[in-house]
Amino acid sequence: MNSVELSHIRYRYPLTKGYALDDVTFAFEQGKFYGVIGPNGGGKSTLCSLIKGLIPDFYLGELTGGVTIEGRPVGEWDKSELCSKVGYIFQNPFTQISGIRDSVLEEIVIGLENLGMEKEEMIRRAMAVVEQVGIYDLLQKNPNELTGGQRQRVAFASILAMDADIYVIDEPTSQLDPDGTESIFQIIRSLKEQQKTVILVEHKIELLAEYADEILVIDGGKLIRSGPTREVLSDYGLVRRQVALPQTVLFGHEMARAGMPLRALPITLEEAETYVRERGGEAV
Ligand SMILES: Nc1ncnc2c1ncn2[C@@H]1O[C@H](COP(=O)(O)OP(=O)(O)OP(=O)(O)O)[C@@H](O)[C@H]1O
Ligand SMILES: [Mg+2]
Repeated sequence: MNSVELSHIRYRYPLTKGYALDDVTFAFEQGKFYGVIGPNGGGKSTLCSLIKGLIPDFYLGELTGGVTIEGRPVGEWDKSELCSKVGYIFQNPFTQISGIRDSVLEEIVIGLENLGMEKEEMIRRAMAVVEQVGIYDLLQKNPNELTGGQRQRVAFASILAMDADIYVIDEPTSQLDPDGTESIFQIIRSLKEQQKTVILVEHKIELLAEYADEILVIDGGKLIRSGPTREVLSDYGLVRRQVALPQTVLFGHEMARAGMPLRALPITLEEAETYVRERGGEAV
């Protein structure tokens, strides 16, 4: 069964002319890791809000087409059931933090309280994710005083605590340094190992190249490309559509233009090194 299915989705925010999503059809399979990329304003966050059920209920506007979650139309889901089924991390970490709690620990258990979970189980789960995300040092802090990067890690922890089946994650590492980013990617990878479905909007294309199973490219509200990561990211034609491809793909393309083609366009640094070595050149 597909995890999420979108069928001919067309959506317009209130008081706007153009469609933020324009005839988008796609089936997300359970247990796969999808990367969503594309130029600014393309519709990536709108896609996330749609899957989370915030469109049209919260954002209003005009929606046509169908969304099903595990085969059931999204409108037929009980709201609290949907809440625990789909975990969502917003693009802006300053939106995510509720601001109504005094400590990070309380912030992390907020979603669990809404599920009516028992206190002991709540604390057990919270501590497990605190360890996983490595935020012991933040536990006593006031959530309103956290930096952007700290907020992103706390938001991530609170979503993990929910133990959802589908994770919709909108640029979770925008405020994190390379180490923080890598650790979030490791956790996302572990979600995939647990058969969770992951839909991740991320500009750090090198990391998607390494970890995502499939890539969706959204531009002007349209799904302009989708498929296995290697196939999509080595489509050089996307550069003309302002889609950022891995540096190694651009490098491979330049090598070919210079009359020194590599075996294939490398999508990761490791591949680039291998292919260059095959040519008897210096490692990059
Ligand atoms: N709340 C809103 N009300 C009206 N228009 C909106 C709203 N949110 C987004 N839009 C518009 O919808 C379109 C898609 O925006 P969206 O935020 O989904 O793009 P995005 O791909 O996530 O961009 P970014 O890479 O900058 O995060 C844009 O034209 C944007 O201006
Ligand atoms: Mg966005």
